[in-house]
Amino acid sequence: MQEIDFNTRIRRKAQAVNFALKRILDFQETNQELKEVLGYALNTPGKRVRAVLVLWCHELLKGQVDHNAEMASAAIELVHTYSLIHDDLPAMDDDDMRRGVPTCHRVFDEGAAILAGDALLTLAFEVLAREIDPPAMALKLIGLLAHEAGPTGMIGGQMADLRAEKTECDKKTLEYIHTNKTAKMFRCAAAMGAICGGASKKQYESLSEYGMKIGLCFQITDDILDISSSSEELGKTAGKDVVAVKCTYPAVVGMKKAQEIQKNLTEEAIAALKQFGKKADTLRQLAYSLLERTK
Ligand code: IPE
Ligand code: IPE
Ligand code: MG
Ligand code: MG
Ligand code: MG
Repeated sequence: MQEIDFNTRIRRKAQAVNFALKRILDFQETNQELKEVLGYALNTPGKRVRAVLVLWCHELLKGQVDHNAEMASAAIELVHTYSLIHDDLPAMDDDDMRRGVPTCHRVFDEGAAILAGDALLTLAFEVLAREIDPPAMALKLIGLLAHEAGPTGMIGGQMADLRAEKTECDKKTLEYIHTNKTAKMFRCAAAMGAICGGASKKQYESLSEYGMKIGLCFQITDDILDISSSSEELGKTAGKDVVAVKCTYPAVVGMKKAQEIQKNLTEEAIAALKQFGKKADTLRQLAYSLLERTK
């Protein structure tokens, strides 16, 4: 049998997420304009990495995807997509391009983009509350996602990211920003997959640690690609971190050290999977493919 290339495997898995998102959106009885903005934000080609991570962590424990895992993966993608819409607003990173197309506030207007973000964030929790069964599992997922995306997680990181612009950023602040704004959403994705898959405490902790490590590595790669890649390849404006004087790994520790940290994080992520043996090979490959990604 011919081996399928790993990126193709990710893309195929992402298709399952796209179908789930489409079904969720189709069910929304709202006004036409909001539906159009939401469709615009959700139908653009995101990589769906966090959502795929939910599915693969679940599969590791359960063998195959079920409805709970599918809905949990859609929920985290909804929160992630909202975070990008708001991240691109003029009051934040002020970006014109996202996922290869003009940003939401550019195509519609700022008000519509803010509200679309609000809608996606709220919808994520509605999906979990309605679709996950048993209710005790829904409650766990809701609490976790709220915690990791909120003030002690992504929003805390985003706030620090904004305030660190044009300042002398130290390593501690840098790690705080990247851990919170990005790594915790990856930890959350892995932990959501673990919860849906009925993980033991030990399995849950290992998968969470794996998620956190690849998540931090993911943001360092994002910083590096902002410098080394092109807007065409990335589907978003390259070179903007230097212009905005952002607190990034290449800026604070230098390119060489940033790459060394990336490799160490990937090794640590893989080490966290030890207890799963060969069954976790897909997650190992994912860690390597994220280390080597070009977009
Ligand atoms: C971009 O995330 C924001 C970061 C946390 C670096 P992705 O690179 O996963 O963006 P999409 O979803 O594929 O567009
Ligand atoms: C965004 O980080 C992190 C989020 C929580 C959205 P960046 O600001 O570096 O992401 P890009 O480069 O705009 O995708
Ligand atoms: Mg930002
Ligand atoms: Mg940004
Ligand atoms: Mg960036």
